[in-house]
Amino acid sequence: MEKTTSVKETRQIIKDWKKQGLSIGFVPTMGFLHEGHQSLIQRSVSENDRAVVSIFVNPMQFGPTEDLATYPRDKARDLFICESCDADLVFLPETSELYPAGFCTFADMTVLTTELCGKTRPNHFRGVCTIVNKLFNIITPDRAYFGRKDAQQLAVITRMALDFNTDIEIIGCEIIRESDGLAKSSRNNYLSPDERKAACVLSRSLQAGRVLLESGEKDPRVLIAAIKDIISNEPLASIDYVEIVKADSIQKVDRIEDPVLVAIAVYIGKTRLIDNFVFHV
Ligand code: PAJ
Repeated sequence: MEKTTSVKETRQIIKDWKKQGLSIGFVPTMGFLHEGHQSLIQRSVSENDRAVVSIFVNPMQFGPTEDLATYPRDKARDLFICESCDADLVFLPETSELYPAGFCTFADMTVLTTELCGKTRPNHFRGVCTIVNKLFNIITPDRAYFGRKDAQQLAVITRMALDFNTDIEIIGCEIIRESDGLAKSSRNNYLSPDERKAACVLSRSLQAGRVLLESGEKDPRVLIAAIKDIISNEPLASIDYVEIVKADSIQKVDRIEDPVLVAIAVYIGKTRLIDNFVFHV
C-alpha cells in the first residue's frame, strides 16, 4: 500500500495506473475509520483494479462552534485498517496542501441543502462539495463510494456530479450498525457509557417510524410526532431535527406517496448524531 501527502505524487501514481488501463475506486473519509468506512473500502477494492482512500479532516465543512479541534484522529490505526482492507493508496494531505494561501474558489449547492443538515449546519455542504470536487479532480476515479448514513451528503454529491458533468459513478452503500442498532460513526467515540446507551434512541425511534409507515400511515406530521415523542422520553437526548423529505430532491412532503427519506439529527449530551432510512411506498 502506498501513502502520499502531496497532490503531485498522488497524481503521478494515478497517471501510471491509468496508463496501464486500470480502473480506480475512491473512498473519501475524515479518518478515525470504523466498520462503516471499511465496508466502503472493501466494496471499492472488490469492484476496481485499484482502490484509493483519502483521509482529511476538512476544516471547511465544520461550523465555527463545531468539533473541528476535537474531531478524533488516529493515523497509525487508520493506515492499519486501510492496509488490512487491501487498499492500494492512502492520500493524507495537510490542510496547507489542499487550501494554500489565496484559496478562494468554492463549489456550492442549492435546493438539496435547504432542509435537514443544510438547515442546521449552514455552509456545511459548501465545504463538502468543495473538498469532494477537489479530491475528484486529484484522484479522477471511475467510481466513488459514499455511505447512506449521510443520506443528504450522498444526494448532494450525486447531484453535483451530474450538474458538473463529472465522469465518476457515485455509489451509495448501506449503513453499518452496532449490534444494538446505533449507526457506526467516528463521533460515537465522544459518548460516555451512559450516553452510549441513550444513543440507541436514534435507531429505536426510526424503527417505530418504519412500523407506522408499514402499517399504512401517510401523514408525515403523525410520523414526525411519533418519532419525536420517543426521542423526548430519553433524558440525555435533545432533537436537532426530525424530518420526512422526498428521497431524491430532499424537499418536504405533505403526504407520503413517493420514496421518502426519514432523517433525524439528535444531540446525545453534546454529541450530534444522525440516522435515517428510506421508505419505498
Ligand atoms: P466521514 O464522516 O469520515 O465518512 C466517510 C464516508 O463513510 C461517508 O461516505 C460516510 O457516509 C461513510 N460512513 C460513515 N459512517 C458509516 C456507516 N455507519 N455505514 C456506512 N457508511 C458510513 O463523510 C465524510 O467523512 C466527509 O463529509 C467527506 C465526504 C470525506 C468529505 O470531507
